[in-house]
Amino acid sequence: MFETISTAPPDAILGLNEAFQQDQRPEKINLSVGVYRDDSGETPILQCVRAAEQKWLAEQSSKSYLGIEGLTAYRRFVVQLLFGEAVNREHLAVLQTPGGTGGVRLAAEFVATQFAGSRVFVSNPTWANHHAIFNAAGLATVPYRYVNQNRTGLDFAGLCDDLDSQTIPGDAVLLHACCHNPTGVDPTPQQWQQLGELLARRRLLPILDFAYQGFGAGLEEDAEGLRTVLRHCPELLVCSSFSKNFGLYGERVGAMTLVAADQASATACMSQLKCLVRANYSNPPQHGAALVTTIAGDPELSAQWRLELAEMRQRIRHMRQQFVDQMAASGVDRDFSFLLQQRGMFSFSGLNPLQVDRLRSEHAVYIVGSGRINVAGMTAENLPRLCQAVAAVLADA
Ligand SMILES: Cc1ncc(COP(=O)(O)O)c(C=O)c1O
Repeated sequence: MFETISTAPPDAILGLNEAFQQDQRPEKINLSVGVYRDDSGETPILQCVRAAEQKWLAEQSSKSYLGIEGLTAYRRFVVQLLFGEAVNREHLAVLQTPGGTGGVRLAAEFVATQFAGSRVFVSNPTWANHHAIFNAAGLATVPYRYVNQNRTGLDFAGLCDDLDSQTIPGDAVLLHACCHNPTGVDPTPQQWQQLGELLARRRLLPILDFAYQGFGAGLEEDAEGLRTVLRHCPELLVCSSFSKNFGLYGERVGAMTLVAADQASATACMSQLKCLVRANYSNPPQHGAALVTTIAGDPELSAQWRLELAEMRQRIRHMRQQFVDQMAASGVDRDFSFLLQQRGMFSFSGLNPLQVDRLRSEHAVYIVGSGRINVAGMTAENLPRLCQAVAAVLADA
């Protein structure tokens, strides 16, 4: 039977990473993958996580299954981070999921099973997996305009125009709550207001993908867009992740939170969501969520986490500034200061596919074909060479 099966295309970003591993040039630089790196180029285990791991190992009494919805204290912490006090806890259905990806998949299956025929509007561009996940759940994705022509900022008029003219009531709209992947371009607070009004007026279902809380301006600041949408739309879905802000990538720690307009609907939705989980992965993994819960429940570890998160955020901002300054000093005829307006780990560099190819073949610098760079991959050591390489491909353009 298997002889007839053809080979699927490799994942674009992970394929690039494999090519990087095989590259023998010692000076190679990898700005393609979506993980945080410190200034020595490592993806560290946070100290608060190491401490929580020891504490948890001593305290853990069982490795039995969790409930379908996951750990209660963990889910409480998720809600606190997302909404603060800005939500009625009785209107929620919260499920711990295997990473943010698991949360997006659960949201997709919920929409597909409960609102057959709904389409999901996604920004153009968006995280490539959004298309894959929604399509796999049986939902059609429709792109809405997002970046401006030179791909350095938001095309807010185009975005509103597309959502206004192309949606019908009951369609879903996927929004990146902060630190848009792959562009780093986010709406302003005023634009979030307008977006909330538009979503409510057209009776659309917002799905907020929140994978980078704390990587933009801060934990509370980054939640403002979500909370603004909630003020306009009493029903929405949030898919959140602790992969990045706790550095728990491989432990698969995320959540899907449904906000309903009343308690009875929330209870009914929870029962449906539990059916979907039961038929998929049955119940979520324990370890990563136990670490997050241990940190959240310990004031000292919690304070340490906030500090370590702030350090990651500040390092990324610092590298943005350094890159912009060094490119300016290199004398190239292009202003990169738009990078300072973009937020989070990623940025659109504005480089075209040909320049991206040349960076890889001639300078051993790996960035994604769209021109997306992982700013967190820049270090004090690799920055001068990176800037020289970018200047070289721009000079010959
Ligand atoms: C926009 C976006 N959503 C969701 C995720 C999922 O993250 P994870 O499943 O690793 O928690 C990512 C990770 O790269 C992302 O960039």
